[in-house]
Amino acid sequence: MRVSGLIRLVAFVFALVAMWLFLRNYISFNRNTIRLPRWLELVPKETLVLKTKCGLSKPCPANFFAFKISSGAANVVGPSMCFENEIIMSPVRNNVGRGLNVALVNGTTGQVLRKGSFDMYSGDPKHLVEFLAEIPDSTLVLVASYDDPGTKMNEEIRKLFFNLGSSYAKELGFRDSWVFLGAKDLKNKSPFEQFLKNNPETNKYEGWPELLELEGCVPRKVY
Ligand SMILES: *[C@@H]1O[C@H](CO)[C@@H](O)[C@H](O)[C@H]1NC(C)=O
Repeated sequence: MRVSGLIRLVAFVFALVAMWLFLRNYISFNRNTIRLPRWLELVPKETLVLKTKCGLSKPCPANFFAFKISSGAANVVGPSMCFENEIIMSPVRNNVGRGLNVALVNGTTGQVLRKGSFDMYSGDPKHLVEFLAEIPDSTLVLVASYDDPGTKMNEEIRKLFFNLGSSYAKELGFRDSWVFLGAKDLKNKSPFEQFLKNNPETNKYEGWPELLELEGCVPRKVY
């Protein structure tokens, strides 16, 4: 009896200790599960602060590319181009220059194909003619002016931009501001274009009109 009584006592104490350990773990586990949702609450708040591509005022629908083009400001700040949230040309990327800055993008994939900066004040306009003459079909063409896009402008280049859907290339001149998005096989005029003539009466800067910004959603070319 004594031995079995001792065994019962040991078993009882063991059971108490086991229960205490279990309850302690169980309670701290519960504390963790209470804490976890509180921690998870932070995640939806962060995803609510989603920025639109290129900082557009509202997001583009599916099968549209977001873009934003800014011309240069006078001869001081270079132009910039954003396409599908990627800054493809800008002073920070150090790939813009005075004159005309042109980027070619695959209209189906949105992949950037080529970029070029063409000095239209003292450069040779034949480089821009060659660049524009080699554009493959279904290519989007983004253009931003900086300082002077007009001095070396010629009829051949005006015609090439006209064929890409430009309404203003025909009157582009010395120190005008111009931003444009066109396409190789555009049948109509592009809706994506802004133009400001250099006019001493209305110029924002001394010698230059205000910089221009153009943003929007351009439909992806689907076959
Ligand atoms: C554009 O992308 C499509 C799909 O990948 C491809 O078939 C076409 O050749 C590309 N065009 C150019 C000019 O890269």
